[in-house]
Amino acid sequence: MPTPHLTNEPWDEHLIRYGMPFAPRLIEKACGTLLWDSEGREILDFTSGQMCATIGHNHPRIVQAIRDACEGALHLFSGMLSPPVVALSQRLAQMLPPNLSKSLFLSTGGEANEAALKLAKLHSGKFEVVGFTGSWHGMTSGAQSVNYVAGRKGYGPMMPGSLTLPAPNPYHCPVRHCRDACDGTCLEVGFDMVDAQSTGALAAVIAEPIESSGGVIVPPAGYWQKVREHCEKRGMLLIFDEAQTAFGRLGRDFAFQHFGVEPDILTLSKTLGGGLPLSATVISEAMERDAHAKGFIHPTSHVSDPLPAQVALAVLDVLAEEDLNARALEMGEHLSAGLHHLQQKHEIIGDVRGFGLLQGVELVRDRETRAPDAATGRAITSRCMELGLSMNIVSVGAMAAIWRIAPPLTVTRAEIDRGITILDQAIGEVLAEGKRAAAE
Ligand SMILES: Cc1ncc(COP(=O)(O)O)c(C=O)c1O
Repeated sequence: MPTPHLTNEPWDEHLIRYGMPFAPRLIEKACGTLLWDSEGREILDFTSGQMCATIGHNHPRIVQAIRDACEGALHLFSGMLSPPVVALSQRLAQMLPPNLSKSLFLSTGGEANEAALKLAKLHSGKFEVVGFTGSWHGMTSGAQSVNYVAGRKGYGPMMPGSLTLPAPNPYHCPVRHCRDACDGTCLEVGFDMVDAQSTGALAAVIAEPIESSGGVIVPPAGYWQKVREHCEKRGMLLIFDEAQTAFGRLGRDFAFQHFGVEPDILTLSKTLGGGLPLSATVISEAMERDAHAKGFIHPTSHVSDPLPAQVALAVLDVLAEEDLNARALEMGEHLSAGLHHLQQKHEIIGDVRGFGLLQGVELVRDRETRAPDAATGRAITSRCMELGLSMNIVSVGAMAAIWRIAPPLTVTRAEIDRGITILDQAIGEVLAEGKRAAAE
């Protein structure tokens, strides 16, 4: 998380700061890949809002679904079901393998992970949960306990039994063993450490198939199979958190399809609602039966609400009708080529990596040591915003500063080219200014 700061604008006088700095402009309108501020200036959105607006902001089908829900029902007693919720549960079951056929619909990713952790514990009768360094699973206490990228300091004890594995980051090998190609040693060392720390109650591993906030970490081929084997050896469940990776961003409906490993529990959020708050925890029929028999409870105010379910059905329709999986791969290749071109031009870009329309650009002070250049990265990010491009820079502790670039899947070639041109200009200007200042 970047250092919090005040924008000193009149509009944030009565708001609590919650992490990243507030943008220096008020946004009044959003459509497709574009935003407009209160003075009518256009901004390209290369973050899909908070990674949710995968089919573009205010897609007409989302707007229509909201209108339809207004004609039907928006919110109901938690024990009541509605046609959109039933239809969405059936739709997901059709898209997913047979062992992922039962859904619970909640509002946020944190909530879906909270439910996943509770189900894993109840079903297994154990309580230890292993997360990855650099992971982000939400801000509720259980989910935050297995977040290792930020937010652990200052709030007292995390959930008992929260353990960690090193993320397979070949650019910064966590066990100082590999460089640029992970051979999986970190996973073996990691499970040795987990075994050493465990009290004998290992319930689950929770993971993002491609770690996003942790710096867009793409694991090597066969990695998730090895994790799965380690889980099976220890009787642990595997939870995949596909908040960001499901529904097209990586060119498939679900990222686990790329890796050929099915989780025992799948959580979906951000991209399911296309910008409205909706999440899902998905498990097998057998696990659902067992959890129910053991008294599983998780009603929330907005569990099974019809409005977001109606919107999710529209999101899934658009994903299929506009063939956004294929588009994400095609546009992702174009974006990646543009970013690699910038890497050749600007020394500050140490690495470009990613998959589909989830690309990470790592900013370094020197390509050999790979020390991060977060300050320059932040200055370039601000300059991009002035020039009309919204970018997100994520910091992974003191280790790395990375732009996570993820425009909506509906982005056009021309919009990608425009974004790359702005980024090029912003990097050039900020670096030139830095050199000028150093020479004075
Ligand atoms: C992978 C992942 N899981 C869970 C969450 C939490 O989702 P929410 O903010 O909706 O609670 C996030 C949010 O950034 C995320 O990136």
